[in-house]
Amino acid sequence: MSVDAKYPIVPRQGLDFGLEGDIPKYWLGGDPFKTRLFDAMSTLFPEGEKFFITCVRDYRERVSDPELQQQIKDFIRQEGQHSMVHGQFNARLQAQGVRVDRIEARMRQILGFLRRILPRSFTLAQTAAAEHMTAIMAHSFFHRRELLEHADPRIRAMYAWHAVEEIEHKAVAFDVLTKVAKAGYFPRIVMMLYVSLMFPLHTMLIMNHMFQVDGFSWRHRAGLWLRGLWWLYRPGGLYLPVLPHYLVYFIPGYHPWKAGHMKSYERWTEVYTRTRDPIAAGDALHAMGV
Ligand SMILES: [Fe+2]
Ligand SMILES: [Fe+2]
Repeated sequence: MSVDAKYPIVPRQGLDFGLEGDIPKYWLGGDPFKTRLFDAMSTLFPEGEKFFITCVRDYRERVSDPELQQQIKDFIRQEGQHSMVHGQFNARLQAQGVRVDRIEARMRQILGFLRRILPRSFTLAQTAAAEHMTAIMAHSFFHRRELLEHADPRIRAMYAWHAVEEIEHKAVAFDVLTKVAKAGYFPRIVMMLYVSLMFPLHTMLIMNHMFQVDGFSWRHRAGLWLRGLWWLYRPGGLYLPVLPHYLVYFIPGYHPWKAGHMKSYERWTEVYTRTRDPIAAGDALHAMGV
């Protein structure tokens, strides 16, 4: 059983994004819809990533390949850091009045329920599917410069770091799923369909809660949604250009390293290794695009 990762999985700790600083509420170009889209996803990450770790851990004992063992260890360390840093960021949202505590309690309830009713191979398939989605997001957020052009550089750097590490470990859950759990096509696809439906649904429900907390009237919210959904789903919007990357998951024989090349990966690691400054590395990644 050999695992050929394209990039090494490097767990990084203690990155300082300056999240305690004076960051504007609508940090993405003053745009409530775009900002709250990222903010809503951020509220899902800590509980989601803890769940991913648990689901991969279920199979850890059964992994005989030392290389995959090491990758699992590094995957767990990376996701643990993501969970922690997004937790710090989410504390800002809670202070703005967003009920992060309630969102997380609800997430724990749903994910706990899934762990009770589904076989372990299915919750691992759910993890592999979610990892495919995060790898796609890593590409789409930095693919074209205009999306994050007017973002606060600190938050953009947090997402750049997260994107780079999601690319590094994008095959780990998938390899455990196919090589260790030996799950077939059915759990892989059915859980991808579940994630494809539930992830956007939860994100949008949380965004709507955020708009209410922000004091937008229903009329104003309707306008935000109409313009925002058009921006997301219009031809050439955020969603359609990544559709082919999403769909490759459904091809039998697919492997995460077969799809998606992040050409600026080396640029981020080079700047980060040289400067140890995650904001400079984030700026460099953004400037280049993936
Ligand atoms: Fe992550
Ligand atoms: Fe991940």
